[in-house]
Amino acid sequence: MKPFPIILAAGKGTRMRSNLPKVLHSVGGKPMLQHVVDACKALGADRLAIIYGHGGEHVQSALNDEAIQWVEQAEQKGTGHAVAQANTVIEDDDHVVVAYGDVPLIEAKTLKRLLQTLQQADLGVLTTILDNPTGYGRIVRNDAGKVVRIVEEKDANEATRKINEVNTGFIAAKGKDLKRWLANLSDDNAQGEYYLTDCIEMAANEGQVDAVVCANPLEVTGVNNRIQQAQLERAYQWQQVEALMIEGATLADPARVDIRGEVSVGQDVFIDVNTLFIGQVELGDNVTIESGCVITDSQIAANSRIKANSVLEKARIGENVDVGPFARIRPEADIRDNAKIGNFVEVKKSVIGQGSKVSHLSYIGDTIMGSNVNVGAGTITCNYDGVNKHITEIGDNVFIGSTSQLIAPVKVEDNATIGAGSTITKDAPEGELTLARPKQVTLAGWKRPVKNK
Ligand code: UD1
Ligand code: CA
Repeated sequence: MKPFPIILAAGKGTRMRSNLPKVLHSVGGKPMLQHVVDACKALGADRLAIIYGHGGEHVQSALNDEAIQWVEQAEQKGTGHAVAQANTVIEDDDHVVVAYGDVPLIEAKTLKRLLQTLQQADLGVLTTILDNPTGYGRIVRNDAGKVVRIVEEKDANEATRKINEVNTGFIAAKGKDLKRWLANLSDDNAQGEYYLTDCIEMAANEGQVDAVVCANPLEVTGVNNRIQQAQLERAYQWQQVEALMIEGATLADPARVDIRGEVSVGQDVFIDVNTLFIGQVELGDNVTIESGCVITDSQIAANSRIKANSVLEKARIGENVDVGPFARIRPEADIRDNAKIGNFVEVKKSVIGQGSKVSHLSYIGDTIMGSNVNVGAGTITCNYDGVNKHITEIGDNVFIGSTSQLIAPVKVEDNATIGAGSTITKDAPEGELTLARPKQVTLAGWKRPVKNK
C-alpha cells in the first residue's frame, strides 16, 4: 500500500476574522494544519499534497517540509474541485486519503482504519453520528446498510435531513478510481460547486463503499470560528493531561494545566494549578511543579522542586534541586544536583555546580560555578561591558558575601571568600579572604541636620 494524503487547506476562513490563514491558527501551540500533516506522516506516507489558496505563501513558509507537494487552488469551487487540482500528482496505485487542514484532532489510527477499507472496498468514507446534524452532508444507506450516496444539507429533502449519520469529509480511494470519478463531477447542485461527495455515489454504482464510523465527533470537527477553536483546544488539552495522569502524575486540577508541546513524566510527579508547559519538557520521578510556573523546553531530573511562579526556558535542572519561588532560569542554565536557586534569582548560560546555593535576589550570567558555593543575597555577575559578554569563573567551596559584584572576566578560586559588598575586578586567590570596599569610618560627634524654622 502506498498512502498518499491530500490535505484541503484552500478555504479563506472568513469567520476567524483574522489576517492569519485559518489553518495556521493553533491548537495546543501548533498550527492546525501541522497537526493534520503529523497525523498523515504517521501513516508512513513519504509524500503528501496540500491544496492551498488563500494566504498561500504564508502557509508554505510556516510548514517548510520536503515531503509536501504544494498544489494551488486559485478559485474555491468546491471540495471535489480542490482534490482535482492534485490530479497531476496522484499516481494510479496511490491509496489516497483526503484530509482537512482545519480538522486538527484527527488521529493517524483513524486514517489507517479508513485506508484499510481499500482492501475490500472501492471507496472508504469516514462518518460520525451527531445529535444535531444540521449543515453536514448526510450518509444515505440502502436496505442492506451499504452507503449509496451523500446528500448535502442544501440538496436534501426533509426525510434525508433527519439522518444523523454525517459525512466528515475524510475519504480513501485508489488513485486511478479517484481521478476517473473527479473527472465526471458536475456543479449542477444547490451550491453550484463540484462536490467531492458525489464520488461516493459513483463508487457505489461501480462497486463497494465502506463507512468507518468515528466514535468521537470532536476528532473530526472542523474549525470555522474561534469558539470552535477553543472547544477543540480544551478537548486537546484534556487528552494531553490524561496521558500524564496515566503515566503516574498527579494534577491538582487537570483543567488548569496547559501543554503546548510534549511533556514526559516519571512516576509520582505532582503538578499544581495554573502551570504552562511549552515545547519539549521532561520531568523525572517525584518532581513537584508548584503553582503558576511556565516551563519551556527544559529537563528537570528526579526529586526536584520548582516552586511557585518560576519561569524556566531551555534549562537543565539536576536531581534534588530547589528552584524558586519567583526564579527565572534562562537558556543554557545547567543547575546541577542538590543545588538551590532561591527567590528573585535569574540564571542565564551558567553552570551552578552540585550543592551550590544562590538563594536570594541575584543575577548569574555566563558563569561557571563549582560545587558547594554559597552566593550571598543580591550578588551580581557583571557579564556585559556594553559590547561583549565575559565569563565569570567560581571554584569549589567559595563563599561570596552579599551584594557583591563580580566584574567579568574574573575568577574566584577554590575556597576563596569574598567580603560582602565587594566589587571584584581582579582574580581572587584560593583560600583567601578578598574584599574591595571603602573602609568603615565613624565621624565622632557628628550631628543630624535639624529642620529649618
Ligand atoms: C463538506 C462536505 C460535507 C461534510 C462537511 C464536513 C462536500 C461537498 N461537503 O461540507 O458533506 O459534512 O464538509 O465538514 O464535500 N475547501 C477547499 N477548497 C474548496 C472548498 C473547500 O480547500 O474549493 C476546503 C475548506 O477549506 C474546508 C474543507 O475543504 O477545510 C471543507 O469545505 P467546506 O466548505 O467547509 O465544506 P462544507 O460545504 O461544509
Ligand atoms: Ca461549502
